Amino acid sequence: MEILISESDIAAKVAELAETIRKDYGLADLVLVGILKGSIFFLSDLAKHLGVNVTMDFIQTSSYAGEKSSSGVVQIRKDLDSSIEGKHVLLVEDIIDTGLTLNHLRELLETRKPASLKVVSLLSKPGARKHETQIDYLGFEIPEKFVVGYGLDYAERYRNLPFIAVLTDEA
Ligand code: PRP
Repeated sequence: MEILISESDIAAKVAELAETIRKDYGLADLVLVGILKGSIFFLSDLAKHLGVNVTMDFIQTSSYAGEKSSSGVVQIRKDLDSSIEGKHVLLVEDIIDTGLTLNHLRELLETRKPASLKVVSLLSKPGARKHETQIDYLGFEIPEKFVVGYGLDYAERYRNLPFIAVLTDEA
């Protein structure tokens, strides 16, 4: 494996993103919606830097199902626990790849009438985009390589690596 983004670079970027988000939302209540499972470490680290007005909920989708490329179909495996009507919602993603998952979730969640709906993603692969998407807060743009670690998996493995690494064919 080749380390693409180190643990310390991730930590610095998460703190920087949180600072921007804190300034933008001020004292408003904010619901962080983590998209399982990939966002778990990013969401928990980000939340620790945000203020007391933050609550968390989770939704689970899957389009990769153990494969290295998207199936093109987004399944909702677990829905939110609470209503988001009238609330400020920040969707928390680990990576935007084709853009399919994000677009699907935006459409779905907009129908529930949140006060606002924005997106923060740690990573984006612009070279892999198939669906036009808007990312309000972004950590890093990365090349079109298969990456694992800090929540990202290949067949459920490697999520617990503290850094982001490129998974080579040999690995
Ligand atoms: C991954 C990732 C994003 C999505 C991005 O999730 O966490 O949610 O794919 O890809 P896209 O832009 O092409 O839609 P996955 O479906 O693999 O589930 P996981 O988070 O549980 O690994």
